[in-house]
Parts: sequence; structure tokens; C-alpha cells
Amino acid sequence: KSIVVLISGNGSNLQAILDACASGFIAGKVTAVISNKADAYGLLRAREAGSSAHCLAHSDYASRESYDLALQQLIEQFTPDLVVLAGFMRILSPGFVQHFSGKLLNIHPSLLPKYQGLRTHQRAIEAGDQMHGCSVHFVTEELDGGPVVLQAKVPIFSDDDAETVAERVHEQEYRIYPLVIRWFCQGRLRQQGQQALLDDEPL
Ligand code: GRF
Repeated sequence: KSIVVLISGNGSNLQAILDACASGFIAGKVTAVISNKADAYGLLRAREAGSSAHCLAHSDYASRESYDLALQQLIEQFTPDLVVLAGFMRILSPGFVQHFSGKLLNIHPSLLPKYQGLRTHQRAIEAGDQMHGCSVHFVTEELDGGPVVLQAKVPIFSDDDAETVAERVHEQEYRIYPLVIRWFCQGRLRQQGQQALLDDEPL
């Protein structure tokens, strides 16, 4: 399977996915990594792993729609079975989301539907939550609102700050994102409207 990963920064989730493809845990290949930021460290990770690495700068485009169309066309060159958002810090227009509907996944650092949007760790701490986590979900037009496939929980301790919580959440992200992508590449996972459906493990 051809997997295209979109990033904006460090790409530690990308690294977990690259490693899972290299080990055979995911029956797929990251054919391309695309960043909207030229200095994203994840682009180096991509090159290191032998993936095609691209920067498509949003500052070169007049509107969100024109950028998203260029992005769509670049992605299509790699005939993806799956498009994975891994710290891609841009809102995608409805046309883009519809085009890749059913094969567009995101990871969000909260237990959705809690804390959609940004600063999730800080918000969970401020709310006094004792549990926090991350969610892998299919992307729909509603921001951070698509059907959840899998979540992982982590505790929040009284001496935590956003950074220590983020670290704990990241460890879980590196576990659940490759797992969900594995399921998708096995043909066991699909989106049906607001639902994510997972078939039993084949014998
Ligand atoms: C992750 O915490 C992810 O949940 C969020 O952005 C962060 C990306 O980190 N969407 P990295 O670039 O994968 O290191």
C-alpha cells in the first residue's frame, strides 16, 4: 500500500510509522512525505528512510483552496491508498477532505471529543482532568470531529506540566498510530459516515 504522510514539524509520529513499515508491522510504504514548512525536521527523517520528501509552502498560494488543490495534486502523484496527517498544522478545506474521504487519518492529542483544537495538554491540566490521551480518527469536514478509530489513555499527575504530559501522550501516539495504519493496510478498517468499522483479525 502507498502511504503519503503530511507533516509540519518534528515528525516523531512519522518516524514511528516509517519504523513500522521498515519492520513489516505495517504492510505498506511511505511513498512521500509532504510538509508545508521547509524547515520541518520530519523531512530529514523521510529522506533518511528513503521516502520522497517535499515541501509545499502555503505562503506561495493566495488562498486555502488553491493551496489545498496543489497539495491534492502533489499527493495524487503517489497514488496513495492512505493519507496520514501527522502533526500537519493546517485546516483542510472541504474539497480536499471529500476528495480523500475514507482514506484520510489524523492523530489528535486528546481523548476526543474532549479538547478539539490546540493546547490540549494545558487545557486538560487546567480542567483538573486525571485522565488524558490521544485519538486516531478519520478526517471529516468537521475539525477534529471525524469518527474515532482508537484511543489511548494516560494519567495526569499533580506535579505534571504540559511538557511532561505531552511526553506521556507521545509514547502512546507512537503505539496507536502505527497500529491503526496496520489495520487499514490489512483492509480491515474503513469509514462509513460517522463510524469507523474494524473487521476481526483474519485467521
Ligand atoms: C502530535 O502530538 C500529534 O498528536 C499532533 O501533533 C503532534 C505532532 O508531533 N497532531 P510530531 O511532529 O509527530 O513529533
